[in-house]
Amino acid sequence: MILSRPFLLRCVPLTAALAVLVAWSARAEWWSYPKVGMVQVANTEGDELATRVDKSHRLPKDYVPQQLAELSAEVIRTRTKIRVKRELLDPLRHLNKAARRDGIDLSVISGYRSFERQTEVYKSWLRREGGDVDATDKYSARPGHSEHQLGTVVDFSTSEIKDGIGPQFNRTRAATWLAENAGQFGFRLSYPKGRERETGYLHEGWHWRYWGDAQAGKGK
Ligand code: DAL
Ligand code: ZN
Repeated sequence: MILSRPFLLRCVPLTAALAVLVAWSARAEWWSYPKVGMVQVANTEGDELATRVDKSHRLPKDYVPQQLAELSAEVIRTRTKIRVKRELLDPLRHLNKAARRDGIDLSVISGYRSFERQTEVYKSWLRREGGDVDATDKYSARPGHSEHQLGTVVDFSTSEIKDGIGPQFNRTRAATWLAENAGQFGFRLSYPKGRERETGYLHEGWHWRYWGDAQAGKGK
């Protein structure tokens, strides 16, 4: 039987989807990465806000998002210089203002992280875990696999925990407020509670990705 070219072309997306599914289901544990050959390069063409980055999709080492801008204290409180994509500045300003009106104090403790910076971050957590890769992979992305490299993510904190990071944030008033309100401003929680098997990470109530109104409103 001779298969036509249009037929074969139609098979390509199906075959790719099957490959991802096989790679995903072949993962030994929920925090594991697919085998090296099964990891795809993230698609950074087109809408930069929509780029998929996770354990199966990695960003090139030299990928730097367009139009990074510095967050100022006028937008939201930060202790260090933090950059995000320019599109996030207004939504963050509005979100912060609404939070303050409700008596919630928010700060941003991380935004854009380059591939090199993520390498340092991952290595530092790995050291703290005494070299335990499995433990580290549950909450820190390997370089190229972090949404922070997209510039569309912020890690929030709050004065209630002295602008600290980690699971303690999940129990703050700020975390509850974000869960109830951040969607209205175009942000969506990347790693929700109980979705570890899907996301590959433990619940992070502080890590919010900006998708713009349309996608965020739908919830994932
Ligand atoms: N903590 C998240 C998964 C990151 O490292 O990007
Ligand atoms: Zn984060």
